[in-house]
Amino acid sequence: THFPEGDLWVFGYGSLIWKPPPHYDQRVPGYVSGYVRRFWQASSDHRGTHEKPGRVVTVIERSFWETLDDPLESESASTGKVWGAAYHIPASHAEEVHDYLDEREINGYTAHYTPFHPTVDLAGDQGTPIICMVYIGQPSNSQFLREAEDRDPQQVAQVISSSHGASGKNTEYLFMLEKALEGIGLGTADVHVTDLVKRVKAIEAEGLGDAEEKDAE
Ligand code: BEZ
Repeated sequence: THFPEGDLWVFGYGSLIWKPPPHYDQRVPGYVSGYVRRFWQASSDHRGTHEKPGRVVTVIERSFWETLDDPLESESASTGKVWGAAYHIPASHAEEVHDYLDEREINGYTAHYTPFHPTVDLAGDQGTPIICMVYIGQPSNSQFLREAEDRDPQQVAQVISSSHGASGKNTEYLFMLEKALEGIGLGTADVHVTDLVKRVKAIEAEGLGDAEEKDAE
């Protein structure tokens, strides 16, 4: 009933890039416009706990992002492109996959619909936009990092270095995302993601990441 056309397209800009939804029959690299990807969503389930939430990505509407005074001027921010992958779910499984994603992406995310631009379409042409469902952790959700100091890149890197949840280490999520973005194509890296990888690796090299935790064990 939610899907009058029958089938469903879902755009992934986070874990969906390397962990596809079930039952997809096509995966298409490309981008959505008008958003900025940031590790500004707290994760108290997958990559952290209620006591110590980790950090995962959300996309922020560019117009709102501009009001936030982000110190990081990034390529994606200037072009307004967020690279990722879209998945086609056939009509036979659209409702089931929608329900599965609602469960999987809980923790503050809500479903939105936005045009997705495939890198190339099936005929090899510059792709025609496809309306995709995308899960967004909106600034109004309780997991969004409301305090500017929590959004500071070094602070985010520190939290990622020392968090883990039911899906594993928070650093693994960050490194998987960087790698998945490299796999999307040429020039599809996200400056904000590579900046955090650098910071996290520096923290790890200093032995400050999980150190606290190990001391406590
Ligand atoms: C994504 O990959 O697009 C995604 C994953 C988890 C929550 C929201 C979005």
